[in-house]
Amino acid sequence: MNIAANPAIEADQTIYLKDYQKPSYIVDSIELNIQVYVDHTLVSSTLVIQRQSEGDLVLLGRDLELQSISVNGQQLSESEYKLDSEQLVIANAPDHATIQTVVRIHPESNTQLEGLYQASSDLFVTQNEPEGFRKITFYPDRPDILSVFTTRVEADKKFPVLLANGNLIETGEAGEGRHYAIWQDPTKKPSYLFACVIGDLAVMKDRYTTSEGRDVALEIYAEEKDIPKCKIAMEALKHSMRWDEEHYGRAYDLDNYMIVATSAFNMGAMENKGLNIFNTSCVLADEEYTTDAAIMRVQSVIAHEYFHNWTGNRITCRDWFQLCLKEGLTVFRDQSFSEDLQSSAVQRIDDVAVLKAHQFPEDSGPLSHPPRPDHFVEINNFYTATVYEKGAEINRMMATLLGKEKFRQGTDEYFRRHDGEAVTVEDWVDALSAGSGVDLSNFLTWYNQPGTPKLEVKSEYDVESQTYCLTFKQSLKPHPKYPNLKAVPIPVALALFDAETGEQLTLKSTALVANGVKDGVYLFDQDEATIEFSGVTSKPVVSLLRNFSAPVNLEFDYTDKELAFLLQYETNGFNQWQATQTLLERILLNDQPAEIYINAMLNTLPDLIQKDPLLASRLFDVPTEGYLGSRIDENYQPSKIKEKRNALLNKLAYAFGNTVKEIYLSLDPELQSDFSQAMGVRALKNIMLMMLARQGDETAFELAQEQYSSTGNMSERLGALRVLVWNDALQAQAVLEDFYTRFKNEALSLDQWFMVQAAHPEATAATIKALTEHPDYDLKVPNRIRAVSGGLSNNPVNTWSFGVQHYISLAKYLDEKNPIVGSRLLQVLSRWYTLAEPQRGEVKAQLEALKPLVKSKNVCETLNSMLSV
Ligand code: TRP
Ligand code: ZN
Repeated sequence: MNIAANPAIEADQTIYLKDYQKPSYIVDSIELNIQVYVDHTLVSSTLVIQRQSEGDLVLLGRDLELQSISVNGQQLSESEYKLDSEQLVIANAPDHATIQTVVRIHPESNTQLEGLYQASSDLFVTQNEPEGFRKITFYPDRPDILSVFTTRVEADKKFPVLLANGNLIETGEAGEGRHYAIWQDPTKKPSYLFACVIGDLAVMKDRYTTSEGRDVALEIYAEEKDIPKCKIAMEALKHSMRWDEEHYGRAYDLDNYMIVATSAFNMGAMENKGLNIFNTSCVLADEEYTTDAAIMRVQSVIAHEYFHNWTGNRITCRDWFQLCLKEGLTVFRDQSFSEDLQSSAVQRIDDVAVLKAHQFPEDSGPLSHPPRPDHFVEINNFYTATVYEKGAEINRMMATLLGKEKFRQGTDEYFRRHDGEAVTVEDWVDALSAGSGVDLSNFLTWYNQPGTPKLEVKSEYDVESQTYCLTFKQSLKPHPKYPNLKAVPIPVALALFDAETGEQLTLKSTALVANGVKDGVYLFDQDEATIEFSGVTSKPVVSLLRNFSAPVNLEFDYTDKELAFLLQYETNGFNQWQATQTLLERILLNDQPAEIYINAMLNTLPDLIQKDPLLASRLFDVPTEGYLGSRIDENYQPSKIKEKRNALLNKLAYAFGNTVKEIYLSLDPELQSDFSQAMGVRALKNIMLMMLARQGDETAFELAQEQYSSTGNMSERLGALRVLVWNDALQAQAVLEDFYTRFKNEALSLDQWFMVQAAHPEATAATIKALTEHPDYDLKVPNRIRAVSGGLSNNPVNTWSFGVQHYISLAKYLDEKNPIVGSRLLQVLSRWYTLAEPQRGEVKAQLEALKPLVKSKNVCETLNSMLSV
């Protein structure tokens, strides 16, 4: 599993898309018998295989103790196969064969949380995507081999719950206080979707009847005390099932759907067929214990994993280079679902904020790669913002261009053609084109090349001819590994407004997808082009890239006045927000005065707070220090950014004056009719509280203390706690202690307690040290590590000073224990090369010093890429 200490050897480990070959054997069926004991687990498997093309029989296996192997009932001697640390190869295997193996594995000491592992004293679970199944048994562990799985699970009766994919067909006694269950999954699937669960868990049950009349048993398994926290997830699950029927014509295909929650999980959740396994953070949701943001996340992740049943499971990926085929499409689907669930503008704002905060920086630095990479060393390193988020944007662009009806015809065709297959990105784009009747093949360029395009737009108005012209130009920063970058198709959603009245104009231009409409889309697919609007009677205000119709960096010479105009009159909530962001970035990075923003906000807020408090709360978003830093490519000085941002926050707090307290006191989440509105009101109240504290108003802390103690809602409680802690209020220590006492047995709430302290704007090395030495800090639990490390990274000044050693020692510690998480944490430092000297040189030296100390492919590949700038 590890490559040699010298990472230069990595060159040999690179896998290329162009080298893809069909498997020599396919597997018709697999029978597994998994017997769990205290200090080991026995896995017996029976594969029925069939030759498909030339070549040896290659069974992948890692960390497996082989007990026996037979072919068609004949035991093989050691000379009849070749076994190394990665695979078992049988030359000259028959064209049809039954292969039986018995291996011993050690889930009880598996800290990598990959394959079968013990998640807690009461629970064993699996995580097999992308390549975990080979840590359970010898198998051609690749996604283009689909097979029927039958699974027998056997364990001590102190683990009453025995689950695997599909239908339960038998249970019984296994002697010596043990029992077993046999499950059969009728749908053919790749090995990465295999799952089993052995544990002592409680369950919440419900039912759902599909549009096809199938009665489905729904079950969510969690610790007894957490069962009440599964209600929101259960509702979201039923909602997702309905949504996929209505929007994509896809109904569920099995008689049961199970979800299991565990706190020991490397990522968010996993879509195993009929048996999803979830990080507790993505399934448990409850006003009292988790924040509004966490509740929204639970709903979107539940939808995401459910939607994978069709986009990922029924139609899967031919190879791991195609990861964005399932992830990009499924993220696009879960985003659309969430847009229907709450204020669609705010959902889009939050999704774009994530894209800009993570994907844009990733794509402009040493870890930049195409949404469909063409080579990798460790596929786990490619579960990235680019694959997921940019992948989703590509699908969104095609959907925007096609419109609802044609997009649906396209997806229908995709399901019709490829159900039950393992396919490629090309197959998806072909089916979408054929079904919709629109050739989308040039969108493949988006999948195949890296970088965020720059879109420059210039405008010109001519009174004489009453025409308004827009000139578009696109370009990409040269990329060392991709010399032949091409222009991409960019759908530009746009609107024109009358500069006097604020009214939206009807667009007259043959260049648009539709002419004579108000909401227009122009498909810009050249290096440069000009389009013309006729019958424009006065110089208009243009709004470009509405709803963020393409993942590009837009450059347009808006005047401050025009931006203030858009904040007030634009009917697309996303672009209202975008106008505030552009204004704030100018104030912050170009030292412009803040008055325009403040006045525009004061004009817009009173109405908006009534109509859409959630959107109103987002208009106060001041770009984070991290995001601002990511916009700087050299001589980056984190403390300068911090100073400026702080100065702006103070300026805003004072400029809003009494309005701050008035808004705070006027708002009551209890009076809101729906969750989304109440969430907005809570967000606004917390923002006002923070501003009040900035004004130096003594009452801020009293109000915060009052809000803290009188609420039963986590967003309110945490908001108040944050104000007190971040401002070092006298009450801070007492509320921190109170919070700890209340929630010390609630891991997700306690994560927030760690996070708030780690993210303190003036947190010191000692603050972080104290947190990592706290008895509740646990390096075996990724959520807890992420709470502290994520809090720390909220603060670039700290990240780039004592934080560097924090991340490096984590990467070193996790290199063998949990390389997936170790590699991800190290990526926080990927923009080291933008720092001003001497910091740049210092961080580089620390990264170089890590090189000889790490072994895992995961960390080595990340470190090598990071240092390759
Ligand atoms: N397929 C999962 C999802 O996006 C991702 C995932 C879950 C994963 N756990 C993982 C990827 C572990 C790699 C390793 O829904
Ligand atoms: Zn996914």
